[in-house]
Amino acid sequence: MWLKMLAARFVGTFLLLGAVGDFRDVEPVTPREDPGAWREPAPGVGLRELGDATGLRIGWAVVPRELRRDAAYRQRVADGHVIVAENAMKWQVIQPAPDRWRFEPGDDLVRFAIAHGQAVRGHTLVWHGGLPTWLREPEEEWTPEALRAVLETYVTTVVGRWRGHIEAWDVVNEAVAGLFRDPLRTTLWRETLGDGYIAETFRLAHAADPGAKLFYNDFRIEAPNRKADRVEALLRGLLADGVPVHGLGLQAHMHFELPDEEALVANLERFAALGLELHLTEIDVAIPGEITVEQRIRQAIAMRRLTRACLRVPACTTMVFWGVDDGRSWVPRFFTGWKAPLLYDSRMERKLSWYGVADALREGRPDRRLPESVLLD
Ligand code: XIL
Repeated sequence: MWLKMLAARFVGTFLLLGAVGDFRDVEPVTPREDPGAWREPAPGVGLRELGDATGLRIGWAVVPRELRRDAAYRQRVADGHVIVAENAMKWQVIQPAPDRWRFEPGDDLVRFAIAHGQAVRGHTLVWHGGLPTWLREPEEEWTPEALRAVLETYVTTVVGRWRGHIEAWDVVNEAVAGLFRDPLRTTLWRETLGDGYIAETFRLAHAADPGAKLFYNDFRIEAPNRKADRVEALLRGLLADGVPVHGLGLQAHMHFELPDEEALVANLERFAALGLELHLTEIDVAIPGEITVEQRIRQAIAMRRLTRACLRVPACTTMVFWGVDDGRSWVPRFFTGWKAPLLYDSRMERKLSWYGVADALREGRPDRRLPESVLLD
């Protein structure tokens, strides 16, 4: 009921703005994308229940410290099937010095997941970011032998530590370049070990936990584009070489556009055709400048389209939001002028974007509709 009243206000403004042409950069929206047509879940029904009914898992990137100190945060995080450490399982946290290992924050997360019947995504083993200084700025340049030994120890130790507890690892993160002629990003790993570092890391991870699903993860590959083509070529090559790759993570940090649902579906399908499981791993839809009513609607429609696209492709099993609430999002810290990209506001209230996701979930997969009992008129 409350949602209807709120939406009626939004839609009124929406139509008005449409009429005066202020909304011209919003691609045509369908009648079902009108928030006034969205139905509110019954009291007590959250995204986890809606996801269960429709066969799509919802997840959150989590900060262990916040889990400890904020009950409202804990409660929102529990309303999901999957959690991932926003930073706690990155190299700079886990091995701040060559002889210092720090597993406690990651352990906290794993314990929370076990207590709440959730799966854990591991993020991330090899990346150019999140590295400790000793690795990034060594006193002497790394030789391939020395760096390979460091990589082997790290992957074996970390994956081994949580063996059996991590459902899926982002084994290699952001290795592909989108803008340059060279398809792979130049990083410490590539420069020192050669292009083969990618396959090597997957093999090491597989040996350390043969039961974990191993993912390649990257950003701005949600829509068909040159970078997505390059990722496809990389994955095809790895699979042809028998490298243990089981999934693709599409980060889905959206900062610029209202995604085109058909393009999302077509792109997810071409990756699914490789036989991979697909996760949307780091979803956020940032708002530029002023947070206006039309921006909130646009954001909610974007979230709804992402959810629908995932639902339409059976290989797309999991959607992870990169944080719970706007107050703790990385976006304003990293992108000046961009903000409020998540499903809860900084007072931990559900936003229209939450209802956009919920509405897509309640529509279900094309072949699987939700029982009326979880809905409220
Ligand atoms: C970000 C975190 O959200 C920040 O808190 C941290 O300071 C930097 O990293 N792609 C990724 C994530 O794969 O690990 C990044 O997370 C966001 C971009």
